[in-house]
Amino acid sequence: MKKITSKDLRVCYLNFFKERGHAIIPSASLIPENDPSVLFTTAGMHPLIPYLLGQKHPQGNRLADVQKCIRTGDIDEVGDNSHCTFFEMLGNWSLGDYFKEQSIKWSYEFLTDPKYLNIDKNRLAVSVFAGDEDCPKDEESASYWRQCGIKKDKIFYLPKKNNWWIAGSTGPCGPDTEIFFDTGKPACGKDCSPACDCGKYLEIWNNVFMQFNKQSDGTLIPLAQKNVDTGMGLERTVCVLNGINSVYETDVFLPIIKKLEELSKLNYGSSADVTKAMRIIADHIRSAVFLLGDRVGVTPSNVDQGYVLRRLIRRAVRYSNFLGLSKGDLIKIAALFIEIYKDVYTELDDNQNKIIEELNKEEEKFLNTLISGEKEFLRVVNKLEGSLIDGTTAFRLYDTYGFPLEMTKELAKERGLSVDEKGFNEKFAEHQKLSQDTSGQRFKGGLADSGQATTLLHTATHLLQASLRKVLGDEVAQKGSNINPERLRFDFSFHRPMTQEEIKKTEELVNQAIKDSIPVVCEEISIDEARKKGAIGLFADKYGQTVKVYTIGGVSMEMCGGPHAANTNELGRFVITKEQSSSSGIRRIKAELIREE
Ligand code: SER
Repeated sequence: MKKITSKDLRVCYLNFFKERGHAIIPSASLIPENDPSVLFTTAGMHPLIPYLLGQKHPQGNRLADVQKCIRTGDIDEVGDNSHCTFFEMLGNWSLGDYFKEQSIKWSYEFLTDPKYLNIDKNRLAVSVFAGDEDCPKDEESASYWRQCGIKKDKIFYLPKKNNWWIAGSTGPCGPDTEIFFDTGKPACGKDCSPACDCGKYLEIWNNVFMQFNKQSDGTLIPLAQKNVDTGMGLERTVCVLNGINSVYETDVFLPIIKKLEELSKLNYGSSADVTKAMRIIADHIRSAVFLLGDRVGVTPSNVDQGYVLRRLIRRAVRYSNFLGLSKGDLIKIAALFIEIYKDVYTELDDNQNKIIEELNKEEEKFLNTLISGEKEFLRVVNKLEGSLIDGTTAFRLYDTYGFPLEMTKELAKERGLSVDEKGFNEKFAEHQKLSQDTSGQRFKGGLADSGQATTLLHTATHLLQASLRKVLGDEVAQKGSNINPERLRFDFSFHRPMTQEEIKKTEELVNQAIKDSIPVVCEEISIDEARKKGAIGLFADKYGQTVKVYTIGGVSMEMCGGPHAANTNELGRFVITKEQSSSSGIRRIKAELIREE
C-alpha cells in the first residue's frame, strides 16, 4: 500500500482519470448557485446536477475533479477521529458515457495497481445494491468485481439504506457500489458487513450509477442518459493508506496541531478535552477560511451561510479561550491553512486579506459580546429554578448578546442544564416574521412546471444584473444567486441601499427588455474569447476552457451554464419585491415574474 500525502493523492487521482480521457474541472464554489434547497455544496456531484440530468457539459462527458464540500449536519460530532465540517471529495463522472463495467474496472485498477495506490486486492471489500421494487439486484456490478478478482465472500449485497445515493430528497439518483478497506480486524459477528460500524471495514470510494430522476412525489423517472458519479473522501483515504486513525493526524492537519500546541503550551493527546478543543479549532477555522476565501464569498451574518460561518468562528473562539490562546492566535492558524492550501485553491491566496480581516472583526465582535453574554448567562443560571432555560431567555442571549443557540446549549450542558429549543425556535420564527417585508406580491402557478419557472427567472437574473449595472454603475458585480420556482434572489456588491427611484428604474429597464421581445442566444466559445467580447460572469474559474455565453441583444452578455428562455417575451412582468442588505458591502434583491394572462 502506498504511503501518500493528500497533495500527492489529489495529483495521482486526477492524472489517472486524465489519462483515461477525463477533462479535469476546477472545484465549484462552496455556495451553490441556483439551488435554494441547501446552503452549501455537500458533495462532488452537487454542482453537476444539471449535467447529470442531461444538460450538455462544455467540457465533455468525462469529468474529474476535487470538490470543496461543507456539511454541518454533524457539527456536534466534530472533535472525534473522523468528523469534519469541510472536506474535499475526489470524483470522476461519466455523463451518459461509460457505465458500470468501466467504472468498476478503473476503480479497481487505481486502488490496486502498483503504479497508483497499490492496495492488496485481498484487503478490499465491496457492497452492491441488493435490489427492491425500484431496481433489480445488481448482479452486473458484482460480476465485474468478480472479474477483477474480488472473492465472493468480499461482495456484500445491501439494501437501499446503504447502497443507494441521492443528494437531498429529489433529483438524480441510483444504486451504488461502495468500496471498503478491510482493516483485518476479526468480524464482529456472523452478520458483520460494511454496513456495520464495528470498524472492520473503512469506506474508501462510492460509485453511484445514476439512472433515475426522483420527483417530489417520490416517483423515479428513468433518465435518458445513464451516468456514473463517484466520490472518494480525500482525507479519509489518506488515513486508510497511511494507517492513521484520525483525519486530524494527516499531513493537512499536523502542522496546525503543532502550531496549536506551541501557542497553547499544551500537548495534543494530553487530555480528551484538549484534543477535542484543538480538533474543533482546526476544523472550524479551516471551514471559515474556505468560506471567507470562496470566490462567491460569505461574511459572518445572522442568516443562511453567514450564520453558519459566524457559528463556526464563534465556536472556535470559545474553544481557543478554553486552551488559553490569546487574541490573534486564531489568525495565525488561519494563515497557516492559507499557506497549506493556496497552491491548490488559489482563491485563498487572492482573498487572504479578506479572510484575515473578517476573522479579526468577528473575533473582536464576539469577544466583546462574550464577556457580557457570559455574565448574563450566569445571572440567568443563578436565578434559575429547575434545570431548563426557557426559549425567551435563550432568544434574548442570541438576539442581544450574539450567542448562537448551540453555544447556550453547550454552556448549559456543561452545568447539567438544558434549553427549551422549541421555545427558542418559536421566538426566532416570530422575530423573522416581524422583520420580513410583507408587501411583495406572491406569485403562484401559471407556468407549465417549476423547471420552466426557474428557467425564466434565470433569464430575468441576467436582465436584472445588466440593468443594475446601468442604474448603479460597474461597481455592481454578482455575489450570489439563488432561484426557486417562485422568485429569484440576487446578491451584488454595492455600498449603500438603493433608492426607490433606482429600484423603479431597474424594474423598468428589465420590463423594457421583456417588451422588446429579444431572442436569447447561446454560443459556446473559449473563455478568452468570452472575456474579449466583454461577457461578464464571476464564476469563470468554475468552468474550464469552453464556456457558454448567453447574449440578450445589446442588453446583456453573460457567461452562464443556463438554461434560459428562448426569448425575453416569455418572461411576464418583472417586479422587485425586496431590496435589503445581505452583508457588509453587499445588497440583496428578491424579484418575481408575474404572469398576466
Ligand atoms: N455522490 C456520491 C457521494 O457523495 C458519490 O460522489 O458519496
